[in-house]
Amino acid sequence: MKKKIISPSLLNVKKSNRLKLTRVFLNLGIKWFHFDFMDGKFVENTAISISEIKNIVKKTKNFVSDVHLMSSCPEKQIKELIGYVDYVTIHFESINYNEIKSIIAKYSQKIKIGIAIKPETTIEKIYNLLPDISLVLVMAVEPGKGGQTFIEKTYEKINNLSWIIKEKNYSIIIQVDGGIKDFNSNKVFASGADVIVVGTFLAKKPTKLKIQRLLK
Ligand code: DX5
Ligand code: ZN
Repeated sequence: MKKKIISPSLLNVKKSNRLKLTRVFLNLGIKWFHFDFMDGKFVENTAISISEIKNIVKKTKNFVSDVHLMSSCPEKQIKELIGYVDYVTIHFESINYNEIKSIIAKYSQKIKIGIAIKPETTIEKIYNLLPDISLVLVMAVEPGKGGQTFIEKTYEKINNLSWIIKEKNYSIIIQVDGGIKDFNSNKVFASGADVIVVGTFLAKKPTKLKIQRLLK
């Protein structure tokens, strides 16, 4: 049985509360954080800034961090994040294929690179990138905002991806993001997810019990 990892998203948390909440999560045993960066172009909204992410990472220790770059110019943010976070995840749909290849070639020795795919993007599209990346972020909702409903066909996608990773013996983390709550987390893990991103369900009032229910 694989280890189940919860990665909270601070997307819907007020700026003044983010650092404090990160510490609350750490005290509850959380070991991975997911930061949602939005540029206002690839998606309409904006969220946490790169400098704030760096600040949180600097002031708190001992967790794995990934930045979900909902950005039409991800290379700019990657350059700024090297040395601060563990994973940076680019949206497959945000730049062209050759640009993605060149970012992987240029930066994967310096930082772990992930590829995020929207609900309509198939695994086949990223198949040839898999040997060179460290994480796939399977979106179970359209990127851009928290609090949406998990799209059911995501289970099959996670399953297929998990099968390919096993078959090819790649060391790739499967992270799933959007609409994950206590009633569907088990099925998401059972389909092959290593890391679940949880926003709304945890951010308002994180408790040990809620975390246990996500892991059951
Ligand atoms: C959506 C973000 C998610 C979001 C998850 O664009 O990528 O990380 O914060 O929030 P919930 O769990 O509320 O769907
Ligand atoms: Zn996200």
